[in-house]
Amino acid sequence: MGIIKKGTSYFPDKEFKKRAWINSNSIYKEANKNPIRFWDKLAKELHWFKKWNKVFVHKPPYFKWFVGGKINICYNCLDRNLEKRRNKVALIFEPESVEEREIKLTYYDLYRLVNKFANALKKLGVKKGDVVGIYMPMIPETIISMLACARIGAVHSVVFSAFSPNALKIRLQETEAKVLITADGYYRRGKIINLKESADEGIKGTNIKKVIIAKRANNKIKLVKGRDYFFDDLIEGQSDYCKPEQMNSEDKLFILFTSGSTGKPKGIVHTCGGYTVQACWTAKYIFDLFDDDIFWSTADLGWITGHTYSCYGPLLNGTTYVLYEGAPDFPTPDRWARIIEKYGVTTFYTAPTAIRMFEKEIKKLKEKLNTLQIIASVGEPIDEEAWHWFYREVGKERCPILDTWWQTETGGILITSLPGIGPFKPTFTGVPFPGIKTDILDDKGKSLPANKEGNLVILPPFSPGMLRGVYNNHKKYVDTYWSKYGNKIYFTSDLAYRDRNGLIRIVGRADDVIKVAGHRISTGELENIIDLDKRIDECAVIGVPHEIKGEVPVAFVVLKSGKPNEKMKKEIVKRVEKEISKIARPSEIYFVMELPKTRSGKIMRRILKRLFTGEELGDLSTLSNPECIGKIRKTIGK
Ligand code: PRX
Repeated sequence: MGIIKKGTSYFPDKEFKKRAWINSNSIYKEANKNPIRFWDKLAKELHWFKKWNKVFVHKPPYFKWFVGGKINICYNCLDRNLEKRRNKVALIFEPESVEEREIKLTYYDLYRLVNKFANALKKLGVKKGDVVGIYMPMIPETIISMLACARIGAVHSVVFSAFSPNALKIRLQETEAKVLITADGYYRRGKIINLKESADEGIKGTNIKKVIIAKRANNKIKLVKGRDYFFDDLIEGQSDYCKPEQMNSEDKLFILFTSGSTGKPKGIVHTCGGYTVQACWTAKYIFDLFDDDIFWSTADLGWITGHTYSCYGPLLNGTTYVLYEGAPDFPTPDRWARIIEKYGVTTFYTAPTAIRMFEKEIKKLKEKLNTLQIIASVGEPIDEEAWHWFYREVGKERCPILDTWWQTETGGILITSLPGIGPFKPTFTGVPFPGIKTDILDDKGKSLPANKEGNLVILPPFSPGMLRGVYNNHKKYVDTYWSKYGNKIYFTSDLAYRDRNGLIRIVGRADDVIKVAGHRISTGELENIIDLDKRIDECAVIGVPHEIKGEVPVAFVVLKSGKPNEKMKKEIVKRVEKEISKIARPSEIYFVMELPKTRSGKIMRRILKRLFTGEELGDLSTLSNPECIGKIRKTIGK
């Protein structure tokens, strides 16, 4: 069972096709003829307490799916699987330390824990519609927490555990969450990270009244009486049944913050019905999930990939999946390959940064990985070299490689080749998922022919799992997604083009967002933080290509007066780490006298970037200070 090469692309062979859920193009024809009917049909296979009366309602720029329907995603993930899969393993937790044993939780184990914890949350006063903050590492309690919130209709807002206390604070302030679930600590590259300490710092100045702590690393932590509770103590003695809330399809399920062009992160809102349908069916069809599969997505639960494919998607399909706590290359560079072998992983989903890192550290892989059937990538464009290494060393020239495109905003994968159909073409993500309509437009809104680069957009009826708004910020929702081409065309902020067969290649972001090791970081947010230093007059941050991480931030700083020194650089880096996270720290800081600006005063970041990459600078006639270019070039040594 494998793939065969035809020209520059690869296709599933007959045997693979035979097994796949989707192996005929007719699904595209059927779905695209009437996407609303297509999703309507798929939605029916989930458990609804009450059926919807309208599949799709569009009041631009807002839209709704399955209106009038009542559903609970936790019920669909757990209760629905009890009959057939009660004793099947749902979750395999692989601790970072190789000396520690894994934990396997069956569907029934998970069900009981989630129910108990849901009851505990209720007892603490959490009600339907309340926002609960989750600041947790990659441990089963994180998944239990998300599912328990969903069960009682609380809205979870997960904050990536590597984010700094300040980053946690602004997210908690925005949602006004009253309860935070966290952990004492966790292991990262053999060290214990004291997460509780960061949580204590982050909740200062927020509305958090209760903190729940899962014990993981048993590190020393400070406890505040009447505010802090241990997860294990709370579930002790709770009933293992908690009635699932019957949620309206359009009730909020979760808020997840992401970076945009401007300084502040925005809370992307996802709702119960549509998200459930899309998470379930994209996971099933794209990863071709069958009952004997072992699925592993390396994405952290703090990001959308973690939400949809390390939590909800696999459980909705009754799949067994792996949750790994630590760094994929710890304690040896092939740790991830050992995990694949240890559990017989059949589907492996990771990011180009990880693939490039594996390639650099390992080159030739000794593990056979013969259980793998599908390998997949997400989060950033995958370059040709990394694609081929992944294909050769991991997929052993027999696994379909899926390059899946999507965003925090889209809730689930929207563009990819399907494994039973193909083609798998290096650096191309594929075609829109059945029922998804996309286009590539020029700045005036004209649809572009093959090989012409333009803005990737999504057309009505969009997808059931797409965002329903930016939390408490209608204006941002409209400005970011529905202004460029009017309120009926979703603007992705990605640049892309199609080949002659309609396969889409994602070129990169059209805005000031950069992808650092797959993490979405706003250069505007970084600039705001750097500008907080009173000695700094202004700064510009750009993303520059990096061999492993894809892109890294580089800052250009203009001082008000005085001479720069190394200490200042360190202080800037420290400030970024404190306000956001280590992942966002600039790889270089250059002190310059001036930044290139247009006559109207706009900083030309594009020119700074081109100075770095060595591309043609283009027309400089709009600059008010072209003479600064030579000086900057000298400073950066290019
Ligand atoms: O630029 C695209 C890039 O990641 C952005 C979305 O980032 P985020 O919301 O963090 O979600 C990432 C995981 C779903 C997109 O606007 N991106 C995502 N997938 C791909 C990609 N770029 C190229 N190829 C992909 N497969």
